[in-house]
Amino acid sequence: MQRVESEIARLIKEIDYDEVTRLFGMLSGGKRLRAKLILKIAPHNDKAPLLAAIVELIHAASLLHDDVIDEATLRRGVASVNATEDSKTAVMLGDILYSKAFTELVEFDRSVASVVASSVTALSKGEMQDVKMAESFNNDEAKYLYMLYLKTATLIEAAAISSAILAGKDSKSYGIYGRNLGLSFQIIDDILDITSDSATLGKPAMNDFVEGKCTLPYIYLHEAINSDDKLKLENLHARPLDEQEILWIKQMMKEHKSIERSFELATKLSNEAMQAVKDDQELVEILKTMIKRSY
Ligand code: FPP
Ligand code: MG
Repeated sequence: MQRVESEIARLIKEIDYDEVTRLFGMLSGGKRLRAKLILKIAPHNDKAPLLAAIVELIHAASLLHDDVIDEATLRRGVASVNATEDSKTAVMLGDILYSKAFTELVEFDRSVASVVASSVTALSKGEMQDVKMAESFNNDEAKYLYMLYLKTATLIEAAAISSAILAGKDSKSYGIYGRNLGLSFQIIDDILDITSDSATLGKPAMNDFVEGKCTLPYIYLHEAINSDDKLKLENLHARPLDEQEILWIKQMMKEHKSIERSFELATKLSNEAMQAVKDDQELVEILKTMIKRSY
């Protein structure tokens, strides 16, 4: 991972603008999940650290823009750039990071470059769908999962496919792994938004629903309850919740096993991912650790 960090530092330096270096230095690097995945899939390829740095810059850019769109003040436990500076700065920094990433990406083989580039269109489409879907109560599971696939899984899937191409491995199996890891990861994130406190999350708890996002546990809850309760739940959508309302949602979810059902889907997707790369023990371990973080 040190090679990835030095590649990231080199790319930032090449941008050759002190203000960008300063702002980038204020960001928290996060888990670097996508970079770790690339290094695990293509450990012996000289280009893997650069590819990992590119994908991390794209990811960082998408989060900068996402925090502007979501009007979020916290990111990875630290104040977001739109909060410490302003939204314009966050958008411009994002633009610089992802265009720099693309400048580097064009030096790769076409098959590698195109899979990563097209995933950015997909994740941008996913973000737009996410925002649209938050305008009203969504109870359509398939629509929700497709949006999640676009918004979160496509970049992880692209990281897996592109590094498999670099390593001369079967890109289809690694793609299935990346896609299912991404989906499962996001479903666990949705669960944690409900089950964790804000100190653990680094952002306010139950925030998804307040932001209008009907994540899987809410979709399953809606499906399970009677029409009066459905109406009550729909009325709580996309507005600040008081203690009692939070308790009601949590109690209903407990009664109707909405969290368990969501967790079952995350586990099923993880199992399919493990199956796809069953000979690669390290990739299997990544999934096991990820599933464990939910409790
Ligand atoms: C986080 O979702 C958001 C994403 C994973 C993708 C955001 C994508 C864009 C803004 C498209 C623009 C892309 C580029 C490269 C500039 P979330 O809000 O559900 O999660 P959070 O709780 O981490 O904010
Ligand atoms: Mg967000």
